[in-house]
Amino acid sequence: MAEFENSYSLNANNHKVSYTDEGKYGAPVIIFIHGFPFNKSMWNSQIESLTNFCRVIAYDIRGFGDSDNGREEFSIELFTKDLISIMDALKIDKAILCGLSMGGYIALNAIENYPERFSALILSDTSCKADTAEAIEKRIKAIENIRLNGVEKYADESIKKLFAPESFTRKIEAIASVREMIMNTSEKSLCNTLLALSLRKQTCISLCNIKVPVLLMVGMEDIITPPVEGQFMHENIKDSTLKIIEKAGHLSNMENSEEFNYQLRRFVESVHQDSL
Ligand code: MLT
Repeated sequence: MAEFENSYSLNANNHKVSYTDEGKYGAPVIIFIHGFPFNKSMWNSQIESLTNFCRVIAYDIRGFGDSDNGREEFSIELFTKDLISIMDALKIDKAILCGLSMGGYIALNAIENYPERFSALILSDTSCKADTAEAIEKRIKAIENIRLNGVEKYADESIKKLFAPESFTRKIEAIASVREMIMNTSEKSLCNTLLALSLRKQTCISLCNIKVPVLLMVGMEDIITPPVEGQFMHENIKDSTLKIIEKAGHLSNMENSEEFNYQLRRFVESVHQDSL
């Protein structure tokens, strides 16, 4: 998968952020937010498919990829402030936001708190709900296991749940690159983020306030945030479209990038048309 050469860094909200900035200056901006525990390279195929008509930004959330951890305790609220601070540093008033899973939790928090900064949302394999008591318990157990058995074991266990069964034969490269992303994440970032995810607040009650167009995409075989989560958000967001991505689990953008990119481009083009 292509690595983008134009990787930059900036300071935002008291930490160093690594980001890529591709495509046309002056064109509408789309910002990609990765899931847990990955990094901005998970969006390479989407970046490539949009650079002809958008300015495309993907960044590493603090503690992931090449971004620093900073000093503050991780939380979805902090990650949202980081996003706004990145937009301010890049002088971006308004953007289309695309987040997968944890990236979607951040996108939902951002539209709730800073609605004027976004013109459209793409929410992929995500949910507006907070963790259940059972999910919190699993996160605590995962933290204990990472501390006891290390990151490699955690990476191998995670991979089993992230992909649709057929991806294990069809998408070997994607699986290897996701494994590498997890392996390159520090134990500290994994544990701090698991805790932050377990403490996150629901955003479901704000869905009815979303005034911008929203595209929801979910892998048909996503067992982490299954299609029913996308369906729930679709029913509660007025101007929303739901696309179920076949041949994909939780990482629908990597497992079926052809369909994902087709839907993404169509949506972004329609948002552009409407804003002309
Ligand atoms: C993700 O992909 O970001 C995670 O699955 C989110 C989560 O564990 O809730």
